Amino acid sequence: MAEAANPSRPQRVLLGVTGGVAAYKCAELTRLLVKNGYDVQVVMTEAATRFVAPATFQALSGRPVFTDLWDSRVDNHMAHIDLGRGADLILVAPASADFLFKLAHGAADDLLSTLCTARDCPLLVAPAMNRQMWDNPPNQRNVNLLRQDGIAILGPDAGEQACGETGFGRMLEPEVLFELIEATFQPKVLRGVRVLVTAGPTFERIDAVRGITNPSSGKMGYALAKAAMEAGASVTLVSGPTALAAPFGVKRIDVEGARQMLAAVTSEVSKTDVFISVAAVADYHPVSPSEQKLKKTGSNLVLEFAQNPDILATVAGLAEPPFCVGFAAESENLLEYAEQKRRRKKLPLLVANQVQDAIGADDNEVHLLDDHGQHLLPRAPKQAIARAIISHTAKLYREYHKP
Ligand code: PMT
Repeated sequence: MAEAANPSRPQRVLLGVTGGVAAYKCAELTRLLVKNGYDVQVVMTEAATRFVAPATFQALSGRPVFTDLWDSRVDNHMAHIDLGRGADLILVAPASADFLFKLAHGAADDLLSTLCTARDCPLLVAPAMNRQMWDNPPNQRNVNLLRQDGIAILGPDAGEQACGETGFGRMLEPEVLFELIEATFQPKVLRGVRVLVTAGPTFERIDAVRGITNPSSGKMGYALAKAAMEAGASVTLVSGPTALAAPFGVKRIDVEGARQMLAAVTSEVSKTDVFISVAAVADYHPVSPSEQKLKKTGSNLVLEFAQNPDILATVAGLAEPPFCVGFAAESENLLEYAEQKRRRKKLPLLVANQVQDAIGADDNEVHLLDDHGQHLLPRAPKQAIARAIISHTAKLYREYHKP
């Protein structure tokens, strides 16, 4: 349903807030959505207004907040139809145990529950409650019923709760909910496809505390993992050392050196349809790293290096390789060197970027090189570039796999 949304107008999110302490976090979610160009209509239950005043949501969304099924501000007195009309997505956050019960059983006794029953768009719920309420068998039965009805249950998370207890029942953080809303709106061009991504730098040990690495932040690779996940793929991310959190829903395997990265990739590759090699892998490693911290000797230190395996070339050279997407980071003659790399490694698609502008940066400009020619993606945030790369990858992947 989300795929059919009209891209020429802002996406409309109907945010339903029910009674729970986590309601205050939805003020931040509203802000994030509005800042990113979404149209947000907030509907609150009466209980929700006891936690946060409607005026807060009104100020942040720039729209009146509705709570009452009989609100006279709606011309035809059919708020339950009018407010839902044109919504591209409904998110109920926080969703209380009581509201989950109502949804699971089709109740329509207040504005929000009625809107949910009369919807024509995806419904997502983000439960938030005390851990015992969450585990309570009737609540779990309701959650299962909602899943069976195709309603997406987001979270809850585990951790410290407002009631002082610790366990499952915390609402997902607003940033995560925002990401999941964004994901819902992306076209599912890789639905059912298994994607393996390498990202970040490698770290090649010299001694117990020192090593050889590079300034790759992992941002480009993590953005690709996220974009692939948003596109409906199941995603595994093999990551060198970075400070980034794995995108929600992505399986992450942490590695240090190139040989460890190759081992992780090798163990995953038979379960992979598309391999995207973004990692800035060191070409060499010290031959004899010291177990102890090396002492200063007063004279020069000479290290001997041995060549690392080329992970991408290894995967692309398999008898039945997955669809391989390589990256080329060049400091000069970008397109010429990149095309040479693509041919040498026998890659259907290679993404070329100027290393000094790309590494560590928040945005990037890339060229896509494939058998059809070259295609520029002008400078944009890495997440936007990643979505465009995934869209192109999906198109080529389907072409290569046509019977
Ligand atoms: O992490 P960021 O800060 O966001 O920066 C992103 C990036 C600049 C690192 C990224 O966009 C990028 O260009 N990654 C590839 C960097 C690189 O190592 O390029 P290369 O030209 O040396 O390698 C070519 C390809 O072979 C790459 O797909 C690389 O992952 C792969 N390779 C290289 C060497 C090796 N031993 N094994 C490999 O798999």
